Amino acid sequence: MNGFWYRKKRLYCEQVSVAKAAATVGTPFYLYSQAALERNFQVFDSSFREIPHLTCYAIKANSNLAILRVFRSLGAGFDIVSGGELFRALKAGADPQKIVFSGVGKAQEEIDLALKHRILLFNVESAAEMKMLEERARSVRKVAQVSLRVNPDVDPRTHPYIATGLRQHKFGVPMEDAAELYRIASRSRHLRIGGIGCHIGSQITRLEPFVDAVKKLKGLVAALSASGIHIRHLDLGGGLGISYNDEDPPPPEAYAKAICEIVKDMECTVLLEPGRVIVGSAAILVTRVLLTKQNGSKNFIVVDAGMNDLLRPSLYGSYHAIQPERVNGRGLWKADVVGPVCESGDFLARDREIQIPKKGDLLAVMNAGAYGMVLASNYNSRPRAAEVIVKERRMKVIRRREGFIDLVRGEAVNPL
Ligand SMILES: Cc1ncc(COP(=O)(O)O)c(C=O)c1O
Repeated sequence: MNGFWYRKKRLYCEQVSVAKAAATVGTPFYLYSQAALERNFQVFDSSFREIPHLTCYAIKANSNLAILRVFRSLGAGFDIVSGGELFRALKAGADPQKIVFSGVGKAQEEIDLALKHRILLFNVESAAEMKMLEERARSVRKVAQVSLRVNPDVDPRTHPYIATGLRQHKFGVPMEDAAELYRIASRSRHLRIGGIGCHIGSQITRLEPFVDAVKKLKGLVAALSASGIHIRHLDLGGGLGISYNDEDPPPPEAYAKAICEIVKDMECTVLLEPGRVIVGSAAILVTRVLLTKQNGSKNFIVVDAGMNDLLRPSLYGSYHAIQPERVNGRGLWKADVVGPVCESGDFLARDREIQIPKKGDLLAVMNAGAYGMVLASNYNSRPRAAEVIVKERRMKVIRRREGFIDLVRGEAVNPL
């Protein structure tokens, strides 16, 4: 269920025509289906109903306040990786006792802010971080709940940039170091052992890597328990993939079933940090064709959204389906869909069979809800796109389009 469908050959988001939304806000813009956001969250969360759990939506995937509010109102917790994400979560009304703080490099001010708000767990990724957390907690007379992020050395078989659970990656601590780190934590009056966790990567389309990682963690929790270290939260991170092209990832129900099977006899609350699987399919990026051109035998469709709006194709070579707003029966053309940015790497699709476009046509870049707007930049001094949410027949701008004045905010005209 992604909320986007055709009626009389025109693309709709729920009951709002994409053409109407484009006429109202201009292009490019991200368009979200609230029904899809809600349903994706509920399907995921309810798949774990047989075990004590908390679904902490990973804000990094999409951090718009209105979207966070949708999940908060469905009972979500949040996974944050910065002070900025903590600020966003609190602004969206999150319960701090449902916030977990991940990330390999937390700054002192970020730790202080999280301590002040008494978040549920700090996912600690090194001995140095634990030392710093202890010092900060002591100085503000608070107790920090520690959850060690261990590195289970499992290959998630995804793009190398988004694999995170192998020994050579910067994330987490080796499993064999965990017991000693927990012992250090248990000696401090300002640290409390709260949990253990892992996150092995993103856009994972098979169950085996998850199953391997959870089994390893279960073994470690048993070994820790035998040495008197009792773990109350088991944080399994995020990572479940979606279908952008021809991938066939397990549905959340199958993912949950495989995990529940392993953890159901553990005395832990399971924490989950899904991002992509919740928001990925719930949005499109709507862009307008500026012109078409041919360089020799190569065809190009130049659109008004570029790598500054959606970086994934340029960054990872990611595939996003591109669909016309209006099905016109003009036949197909093989072309690159490219943006206006001055980089050869600025493309949304390469060698794609696409309905023959005309200047002014609208195109929808599908499955753009995760790691889309959050990775947008002002490169080439391009104002960032608007974001719009639709619920049934209503639509609302949830981030206004930037103007030129936004580009220079905070800059000084006069040098020394
Ligand atoms: C610690 C952590 N948790 C959760 C996520 C969310 O991952 P995904 O969007 O693949 O579910 C990430 C993403 O990289 C992460 O680093």
